[in-house]
Amino acid sequence: MTNALRIGIAGLGTVGAGVLDILKAHGRLVEARAGMPVTVSGVSARSRNKNRGHDLSAVTWHDSPVALATSPAIDVFVELIGGDSGPAKDAVEAAIKAGKHVVTANKALLAHHGAALAKAAEKANVALNFEAAVAGGIPVIKTLREGLVGNAPRKLFGILNGTCNYILTKMGSEGRSFADVLKEAQALGYAEADPTFDVGGFDTAHKLAILASLAFGMEVNVKEIAIEGITGITLDDIRNASEMGYKIKLLGVAVRHEQGVEQRVHPTLVRKGSPLADTDGVFNAVVIKGDFVGDLMLEGRGAGSHPTASAVVADIVDIARGDRRPAFGVPSAAMKPFKSPPLKAHEGGFYVALQLRDKPGAVAAVAGILADEKISIESIVQRGRPVAEEVRDTAQFTLITHDTLEASIRKAIARIEKDGHVTGHPRVIRIERF
Ligand code: HSE
Repeated sequence: MTNALRIGIAGLGTVGAGVLDILKAHGRLVEARAGMPVTVSGVSARSRNKNRGHDLSAVTWHDSPVALATSPAIDVFVELIGGDSGPAKDAVEAAIKAGKHVVTANKALLAHHGAALAKAAEKANVALNFEAAVAGGIPVIKTLREGLVGNAPRKLFGILNGTCNYILTKMGSEGRSFADVLKEAQALGYAEADPTFDVGGFDTAHKLAILASLAFGMEVNVKEIAIEGITGITLDDIRNASEMGYKIKLLGVAVRHEQGVEQRVHPTLVRKGSPLADTDGVFNAVVIKGDFVGDLMLEGRGAGSHPTASAVVADIVDIARGDRRPAFGVPSAAMKPFKSPPLKAHEGGFYVALQLRDKPGAVAAVAGILADEKISIESIVQRGRPVAEEVRDTAQFTLITHDTLEASIRKAIARIEKDGHVTGHPRVIRIERF
């Protein structure tokens, strides 16, 4: 390393441009904190001519991210391309092999290849830093890797996708359609290049896999996560849940059990007034239940150019300061593989919405099946016959259960569907009580 830290940035999209903004606005501050100037020595991005509001004429431009990653003119390779394979993976692997430190915001890459990359970085004695990969500007990686080393967390959960939280918030507060709000989240630079990753729950799963690995000292393994996104959530669900005292959030949840680590991503009802329910818009929140520290919640902007770039710059400064820590908190050889218990063993409350044929005995039949499966009801709302022709002889029947086994609710729903008292498929959403 020379007397400046020379960085090469691959990917000058939303986050890359944000990094340039911070280095321009806070060049002196960053230099003082890093103990040396941080200079952008090389870049690689798809379009050279795009106006990013920065003069990049003096910076070496590389068409290939791998060429940038291995350039003798850089000390740190900053990967902001994205994707779990292709150019991002090739370039990160090449950088590590060439002895360059790596800073990445790429959760998909880490969720799929984190264990191998951590091992390679350890072998090459280089840093692999990824604060920006999870929850945007919230320093949750540092919190788990450094601040909570004296704890064996039992559970962590949170809102980990800004796009989904923005969509659910705006649908609820403004009554707007899913598609309409998604477009806005894309325009604001929150969504992934392919927003299916956001709304399908995969981005949350990538982030959860990384956090669970750090919290529980096991290998990152996104394949063990049960994933459900928010595409099926309707305005009716949001309104019904609200009437019953809940908000709907997309949560990632990881719980350490004797039999393994339960990991799941799904839309979830959370009680209004609870801190997670009050985390709205693009904000993310992570709750960690430590055994010695107790409960801890971090909240901040989970997506967007500047919050995410703030995390990237922090990782760069750590490298300049000489901080070298195992990527996932423990040496890679100590990271154990694990299995998740099946989701049907999960126990919790459920929101169930049924389109009930409005005939005598319909409610009794549903209640009878639930009783039969030993499912206790916490609250019920029935709305009278709707105006729409196709559902005129039906009633919207919504209930909240007390905690019950997922296997029991699935069995009850299958029986209710067969019983002939409902039209369409019942809608079921899990409830998390903290
Ligand atoms: N698409 C992601 C989100 C960006 O909406 O949270 C931050 O990882």
